Amino acid sequence: MTQAYSRIYGSGFVTGETLVPNERMQLVCDTTDEWIRERSGIQQRYFVNEGTATSDLGVGAAKKALDDAGWKAEDVDYIVVATMTPDYYFPGVGSLLQAKLGIGNIPALDIRQQCSGFIYGLQVCDALIRAGMAKKLLFVGAEIHSGFMPFSKHGWDVVMGRSNEPVTQAEREWNSKFRHLFVLFGDAAGAVCMGPTDDPRRGLLGYSLHAAGKDVEALYVPSAGFAYRPYFSEEHVREGRFVPVMEGRQVFKMAVTKMPEVVLETCQKVEVTLDDVNLLIPHQANLRISEGVQKALKLPDDRVYNNIQRYGNTTAATIPIAYDECKKSGKLKPGDLVAFVGLGAGFHWGAALMRE
Ligand code: UT7
Repeated sequence: MTQAYSRIYGSGFVTGETLVPNERMQLVCDTTDEWIRERSGIQQRYFVNEGTATSDLGVGAAKKALDDAGWKAEDVDYIVVATMTPDYYFPGVGSLLQAKLGIGNIPALDIRQQCSGFIYGLQVCDALIRAGMAKKLLFVGAEIHSGFMPFSKHGWDVVMGRSNEPVTQAEREWNSKFRHLFVLFGDAAGAVCMGPTDDPRRGLLGYSLHAAGKDVEALYVPSAGFAYRPYFSEEHVREGRFVPVMEGRQVFKMAVTKMPEVVLETCQKVEVTLDDVNLLIPHQANLRISEGVQKALKLPDDRVYNNIQRYGNTTAATIPIAYDECKKSGKLKPGDLVAFVGLGAGFHWGAALMRE
């Protein structure tokens, strides 16, 4: 079996401040708690309060991971952040996180692979450590999806539980155009501290990563980009083009096909079998996707971890959050083999195998 060069020494996560159960979504668009649970498994999500940025969530998660590893912020020598929802169009979140943590002028890098951001990022972080470029690396997956939501100011008051006054019929109709998308997402960040392994049997063992750019329009944001002049306009806002476009069925089919394939491909590369894998942690996009992947791989319930019921889809943050929960609850024990797998916009997809 392949040897490890780097491993995770600590982890932690935070969510947005406000818990939003499905019932609040019913008040702003034509949806039901039943539909959301049945089609996605989601019961609730957290949204940040106004004023909290992606870098702030990243800082919260980073501090917890640093505590868990027993590292001081000033020990960190490299920062990598996976996000598709940076504080600003540019720069990325890495340098903002560095400043907010009060760390010196160490390198800071952003990864933009959406729902596969954490898996792509693991490979980049592992490579930096293998090459001797980093010894105490902080890797954060952070997202604020609430900025994509189409609600008015009053709509937000309703969603966040500050008002029960119904939204206008016109707003309800407008919001309902995007209902298949916004009921799925939440705001959160997860972080891990990575460094050279102290035992070549423990740590990151291998990856399989893929991309298929021809299908970009299945899941993308059709505004705020330099394919347009100006890159953002009033027209874009009026037409709701700041909300991601998602061909849900196409993404779903792609996910349940490619995710099992790439897990098996990675097992083969690392020279283990699926039977050796103690725990599968899939990206949390939809509980029905995770169930499809589990079924395709014929894995029993206790070897697949899901928590989308409580957080919704938090894109680059889902895997580090699930990992932290598994580690802290004892579901993942030292020596266990864990497989991470994800697929998302791009399309990008991939898997990573790690010995805990
Ligand atoms: O992280 C990667 C990013 N995204 C994903 O992985 C998402 C992958 N796709 C999915 O998770 C699912 O396709 C969805 C959850 C988005 C949709 O579930 P679905 O079972 O594929 O439903 P559908 O799009 O086929 O829609 C079924 C019906 C439609 O109504 P009609 O045409 O049958 O009358 C939709 O208009 O459900 C309607 N619908 C809703 N109804 C109530 C769509 N969204 C909602 C909603 N509430 N929120």
